[in-house]
Amino acid sequence: MFRLASLLRRARALQGPSNAIIPRPTARSVSTTCPLRSDDGEIRPGQFVRTDPSITVKCPSMGDTASSKPVRRHKRTLKSFSLEGKVAVVTGGARGLGYVMTQALVESGADAAIMDLNGEGAAKSAKTLLEHFKSENPDAERSPTITAHTSDVSSPTSVRSTISEILTQHNSQIDVLVTSAGFTENFKAEEYPHDRMQKLWGVNVDGTYLCAAEVAKHMIERKRPGSMVFIGSMSGSIVNVPQPQAPYNASKAAVRHLASSLAVEWAAHGIRVNCISPGYMLTDLTKKILDDNPDLKAKWVSLIPQGRMGNPEDLMGAVVFLASEASNHITGADLRVDGGYTVI
Ligand SMILES: NC(=O)c1ccc[n+]([C@@H]2O[C@H](COP(=O)([O-])OP(=O)(O)OC[C@H]3O[C@@H](n4cnc5c(N)ncnc54)[C@H](O)[C@@H]3O)[C@@H](O)[C@H]2O)c1
Repeated sequence: MFRLASLLRRARALQGPSNAIIPRPTARSVSTTCPLRSDDGEIRPGQFVRTDPSITVKCPSMGDTASSKPVRRHKRTLKSFSLEGKVAVVTGGARGLGYVMTQALVESGADAAIMDLNGEGAAKSAKTLLEHFKSENPDAERSPTITAHTSDVSSPTSVRSTISEILTQHNSQIDVLVTSAGFTENFKAEEYPHDRMQKLWGVNVDGTYLCAAEVAKHMIERKRPGSMVFIGSMSGSIVNVPQPQAPYNASKAAVRHLASSLAVEWAAHGIRVNCISPGYMLTDLTKKILDDNPDLKAKWVSLIPQGRMGNPEDLMGAVVFLASEASNHITGADLRVDGGYTVI
C-alpha cells in the first residue's frame, strides 16, 4: 500500500496534477534510446524505478506475443548443464512458459512428457518439438522421446494415472518435474466467487503438490536423485498493482514455500526442489489480460527496472540450470526472473 502510494506520488510529480491517465508506451517495438521523461510527458519503461533522471536506457524490442520459435541448439556447454539421459515431466507444457521450458529441457538433452488439461495442444506441441529437433540435428544418433498426456493436475486420480502412464512410456524413469500448469484471475477480494477461488488454488497449489508427491514416490522408490522446479510467480513475494488478485498472489506464495518445505523433507532422498518466480512475461495468459486492459502494459513496464516484460525464452537458462546437476547444491531456493521488479 505504502509502495503504491509512493509510486503514485512520484508519477503525479512527473506528470503534473492534471495528467491522471497513464498513456501507452511508444518505445516497445523498436530498439531505441528513450529518455526517462519526454517533453510530451509520456511515461517511459522503467522510469518510476530510476532515481537519476539523467540516465537513459536502451529499450529492447518487444513483440506482442510470446515467440515459441524453437531456439537453435548450441552443443558446447558445461557438462553439468547437460540433461542427456534424463526424463523431464512438464505440467502445463502445451503452451506458454511450460512449452518453452519443455523446449529448453529437450534442447539440453532430456526426453520429455507434457502433462496438460489441453491434451490436443500437448500432442501438437510434442510433435512440433520433435520435428524441430530432427531438422536441427539430422545426424543425431537418436531423437528424443516426447510424449503428451491429457491430465488435470488438480485431480489426485488424474495425476496418479498420468504419472503411471508416463512411467510406462519412459522406461520407468522420471528425473525432473517442472510444474507450470497454473492460471490467474482478477476479482476484487470482497467479490471473489468462492468456487473460482477453490478452482484457482486447486490448480496452482494442489496441482503443484499432487504432481510433486506422485513423482517423489517414484524417485524415492527408484533411489535416484531428482530435481523439481515449481513455477511460482513474483506475485508470491510482492503485491501486483493495480489489478486485484489476492488469491493468486497467495497461491504463488504457497508454491514458493511448498518448494522450500519439500526441499527439506526430501533432501535425504536426493530430491532437490526449487522455485522459479517469473515476473511479467508475454504469454497467452498475460496477453488476454493486456488485451482487456491496454493501459496496464504501460503501468507494468514502468515498474520493471529492465524496462521490458520478459519473454518465455528468458526462463530457458533458469529451468535448465535448476533441473540439471549444475545446481546440485541448490535446493529450497527461489530464483526470480523478473527484470528486477522485486528488488526495488
Ligand atoms: N505469464 C506470466 O506473466 C507469468 C508470470 C508469473 C508466473 N506465471 C506462472 O507460470 C505458469 C504458466 O503460465 P503461462 O503464462 O504459460 O500460462 P498459459 O495459460 O499460457 O499456460 C498454462 C498451461 O497450463 C495448462 N493448465 C491449466 N490448468 C490445468 C490443469 N488443471 N491441469 C493441467 N494443465 C492445466 C493450460 O492448458 C495451459 O497449457 C502459471 O503457473 C503462471 O501462474 C506466469
